[in-house]
Amino acid sequence: MTTALDLDLVRTHFPAFDNAAPAFFENAGGSFPCRQTVDALTRYYTETKVQPYAAYAESATAGELMDASQRRWAEALGVATAEVSFGPSTSQNTYVIADAFGQKLGPAAEVVVTNQDHEANTGAVRRMAERVGATVKEWRIDPSTGLLDPAALDDLLTDRTRLVCFPHCSNIVGQENDVAAITEAAHAAGARVICDGVSFAPHGLPDIGALGADLYLFSLYKVYSVHQGLMVAQNGVLDELPNQGHYFNAEYPDKRLTPAGPDHAQIASAGAVLDYIETSFAEHGGTGDLATACRTMATRWQDHETVLLEPVLEFLAQSPSVRLLGPASTDQPTGHRCPTVAFSPVEQEPESVAQQLVDLGIMTSHGTFYADRVLQGLDIDPARGVVRVSWVHYTSPADIEKLLAALDDVLG
Ligand SMILES: Cc1ncc(COP(=O)(O)O)c(C=O)c1O
Repeated sequence: MTTALDLDLVRTHFPAFDNAAPAFFENAGGSFPCRQTVDALTRYYTETKVQPYAAYAESATAGELMDASQRRWAEALGVATAEVSFGPSTSQNTYVIADAFGQKLGPAAEVVVTNQDHEANTGAVRRMAERVGATVKEWRIDPSTGLLDPAALDDLLTDRTRLVCFPHCSNIVGQENDVAAITEAAHAAGARVICDGVSFAPHGLPDIGALGADLYLFSLYKVYSVHQGLMVAQNGVLDELPNQGHYFNAEYPDKRLTPAGPDHAQIASAGAVLDYIETSFAEHGGTGDLATACRTMATRWQDHETVLLEPVLEFLAQSPSVRLLGPASTDQPTGHRCPTVAFSPVEQEPESVAQQLVDLGIMTSHGTFYADRVLQGLDIDPARGVVRVSWVHYTSPADIEKLLAALDDVLG
C-alpha cells in the first residue's frame, strides 16, 4: 500500500498524532483538527477575544481575521465572498434554509428529497413542506446497492418542482453523487437545489462554483477545522428567499441565512485549515493559488484513500459474516467511492461487533448515524443499526492493516 502522499509530513500537521498513533476510524463523525486550526483558536482566544469590528487594534484584528476566513473559503470553493456564510452547524443551517423556503412555497409546490440523506438535509424540508401543504416526493435508493438512479429523478421532476435536496455523498453508502448533473436536471425543471456536502468535503474541497448547486453545505469540524457549518448560496438564490436575519442586516447577503449571532473565534479560525492545505501542497512540490492547492490535494487525498479502501472493501465483500453497504468497488461512474464503509453483521449484533473492534484498538462505533431512512431503504432495522469505519487522507496503511486484522478476528 504505497501512495504519492507523504504521510509523515501530513501527520506533522495534526497534533493528534504527536504522541500516539490512534487507529481512528470515526472520521465521518468528526475529523482531527489540523495544528493550524488549533493554533488559530488559541491565538484568537488569547490575543483578540473582544467584540470585533471596532477601531481599537484587537477588535480590528478580530474583524479582519473573520473577514479573511470568509474570503479565503470563497477562493477555495470557487465562489464569491458574499456567497459564503457560517452558522452553528449544518443541521441548524438547513433548518434556517428550509424555513426560508417555507415562507415562499405553497400547496402548489413540489419538493424532491432523497432517502439517501442524513436526516439533517431533509428532515426540516419535509416538515416545512408538510406545514405549507406542498407535495413531498422521495427519490429512493436502490434497496440493494443504496445508490440513487438519475433516471428516477427525471421521473419525479415536473414544472411544479421548486426544490431538490440531495447529498453529495451519503454517510452510509459512501458514494459520491454527480452533483453537477443532478443540479442541471433540477435547474432544467425550474427547481433550486440544496446539496449536503458534509460527507464529501473531508475527501477533497469541491469547486462549488463549478458544481453549480444553489445551496451547498458542509461541516467544518469534519474538515480538520472548527465546529461550524459553512454554507454557500449562489446563483441569486438569496434574492428569492426572505431574509432570516435581523431586518436591518437584509442588505448583507451573508447575514440573510444566519439568524444566530456569529461565533467570532471559530469563524476567525475557520480559514486556518486552508493554510494547512496550502502548506501541504507546497510540501508536495505544488505551486499555484489556493483553489489549485485545494483541487490538487483533493486528487492526492482521494488517490491515497482509494489505495487504502480497496483491501477493506475486498475483505468485507467476500465475508459471509456481513453485508457490505454501498459499492464494493472503487471504480464508480459518478466519482469518488469515499472511505466511509458501513456494514451490517449477519448474526452478531452491530453493537457487539463495534465493541470488539474498540477492544482491539479500533476507534469506531455503531448506530444509524442519523441516516435512519437510508437504513430503512436498505431494509436494515434502524434499531439494530450498522457498524461504520471511516477514514480520510491522514489515515495510514498501518491503520488499515490493524483494521483488517481486527475485522478478521471479530468476523472470522
Ligand atoms: C452527511 C451529513 N450531513 C449532515 C450532517 C449534520 O451536520 P452537523 O453536525 O454540522 O449539523 C452530518 C453530521 O454528521 C452528516 O454526516
